[in-house]
Amino acid sequence: METDKKSLAYFKGNFVPIEDANINIMNHSFMYGTAVFEGIRAYWNANEEELYVFRLREHFERMVDSMKIMYLETKYSVDELCNITVELLRRNAPTTDTYIRPAAYKTAHRVGPSLDNNPSDICMFTVPFGDYFHGAEGLKVQISSWRRVEDNAIPARAKIVGAYANTALAKTDAVMAGFDECIVLSENGHVSEGSAMNIFMVKRGQLITTPTTENILEGITRGSIMELAEEELGMSTVSRTIDRSELYTADELFFCGTGAQIAPIIEIDKRKVGNGRAGSVSNQIKDTYISICRGEKQKYHKWLTPVNGTAAKKSEAKAEATSKR
Ligand SMILES: Cc1ncc(COP(=O)(O)O)c(C=O)c1O
Repeated sequence: METDKKSLAYFKGNFVPIEDANINIMNHSFMYGTAVFEGIRAYWNANEEELYVFRLREHFERMVDSMKIMYLETKYSVDELCNITVELLRRNAPTTDTYIRPAAYKTAHRVGPSLDNNPSDICMFTVPFGDYFHGAEGLKVQISSWRRVEDNAIPARAKIVGAYANTALAKTDAVMAGFDECIVLSENGHVSEGSAMNIFMVKRGQLITTPTTENILEGITRGSIMELAEEELGMSTVSRTIDRSELYTADELFFCGTGAQIAPIIEIDKRKVGNGRAGSVSNQIKDTYISICRGEKQKYHKWLTPVNGTAAKKSEAKAEATSKR
């Protein structure tokens, strides 16, 4: 996931070469982790030569919520942030799946953690982005010995840069112990989420996920799955507290998130999940989700922002040709 040197970033109100988008070492957010960010995906549809951004508006609505918690202010509305993203993508013109990383950060150069009297700005870059788990059929995970940051310590519902030290510790220890990923528990011992993704469990035909009060990031993928599982599979999701040992006896488990997409879990703490292979509900949700993201399901185009406007351009050209006849 390297940036192309010719790629542009949005920085200090302008589109500039990524190499020129640099922050001073005295920057407050760099020193204290006080920035907030989003992770957004855009999917390339080669047949249509269209790049579809998935749930762009919802990501910026969440970023504005995160900003509120951290006393970050912006002169941009959600619509303007969406427009900046589309313009950046038009200028970078990727023809591959792409990750978009906007952030809101504190701009003060000073020593001292306080968020007040500390101006804010927005920045954004894009990078090519394939599979988070490099095409693994199913993940082998462990329950992390690290606990999720509590709402009264660093609120997990805000995507705060500093909170990702928690993610980094949990993920690194899992990988160094030979696992693909981990599941983190809240201090109360209940299941929270993956290192940077939400979790769903299937038990006796019921789809269950952890509640928003369990120190999770309220995932946009999580919400989308709840909707599509109901619409496409006729399965409504129960959002409730999950005990660790329930995971050991689940029929299916899968992670979901912008980066992870839908990632079935096949082993947890050396115990097989179900029969040790990705389950049918997980697979159906995964396939449906990906085809929605790629613009293959008209019904869900409401979730997508087309960057190139290829379909609109084609129908305009067709209308013009017809009117000339
Ligand atoms: C901690 C955490 N939980 C959950 C998610 C999933 O959220 P979303 O589906 O909005 O990407 C992410 C990913 O960004 C995350 O970082």
